[in-house]
Amino acid sequence: MTEAKSKASVSKKGESNIQSLATNQLVELLRMRRSIRHMTGERIPDEDLELILDAARYAPSPENMQMWRYVIIREDEEMKRIIADISQEAARYVFGNYPYEATQGRLWYMPDASRPGTYEEMRDGSLFRYPEKADAVIVCCASESWHDSPAMYSNELCGSVVVAMGVFSMWLVAHSMGYACAYQAVPFADKRHVEFICDKLGIPRTWTPLAAFCIGVPEKARMLGPSRWPLEGSFYVERWGNPYTRLAFRIKRKTKPKH
Ligand SMILES: Cc1cc2nc3c(=O)[nH]c(=O)nc-3n(C[C@H](O)[C@H](O)[C@H](O)COP(=O)(O)O)c2cc1C
Repeated sequence: MTEAKSKASVSKKGESNIQSLATNQLVELLRMRRSIRHMTGERIPDEDLELILDAARYAPSPENMQMWRYVIIREDEEMKRIIADISQEAARYVFGNYPYEATQGRLWYMPDASRPGTYEEMRDGSLFRYPEKADAVIVCCASESWHDSPAMYSNELCGSVVVAMGVFSMWLVAHSMGYACAYQAVPFADKRHVEFICDKLGIPRTWTPLAAFCIGVPEKARMLGPSRWPLEGSFYVERWGNPYTRLAFRIKRKTKPKH
């Protein structure tokens, strides 16, 4: 190996070590992120909020068209309350009619002592009043029609996808700073609520509000969350239905498996 080549490989190796530190931190952030719905109502510093908002700008979008718009509600307490009222009503409608067993099943990860309380908060919808305690309620809007080239991007969901990417970027940054975040979609499930909120906020008809993304100060850290399926549950290999096998569970074979 020439000296130049060996220097290059040393510096590459060094870079990859630095990267792996960043990767580990990012993976840790991803794994610890949670929906935190109990907020104190306190304000967060403007600079912190701006850093969080700025993360959304870096999300990818088709041809960089950035078909996202976010309405930040921070000062208008009445509007926050209206969104909280609509959220509670919509959630009560969904969970109030839910069979007890179904919800119990969903809350299995919680300690026994806190499960009945959370279940009650879901049933009466009060768990979903959190927009009134958030510092920033961000109404996230997508446009499915604002494409330069509808022929190229016929997928109707592009707008929602780009907004989701922007929201998740904000969520990760906010989480890394210790703030609580939760994604409130229930007030936008019923078209009448959508009309009402759009009217109140002046959102034009070419834009669709998808959710009120709430950021605030957490009442307490949320440690436990619902677990996820293992990789085998979500990933197939080469063909639909061939479950991915985690490295730890792989048996070394001499021949390649047939697909
Ligand atoms: C498209 C979408 C809609 C959601 N709707 C709501 C909602 O209306 N209200 C709410 O509090 N959380 C909502 N969530 C949050 C999920 O309930 C939550 O992410 C999931 O249960 C996993 O919990 P975790 O975020 O703590 O990991 C939604 C999430 C997504 C991606």
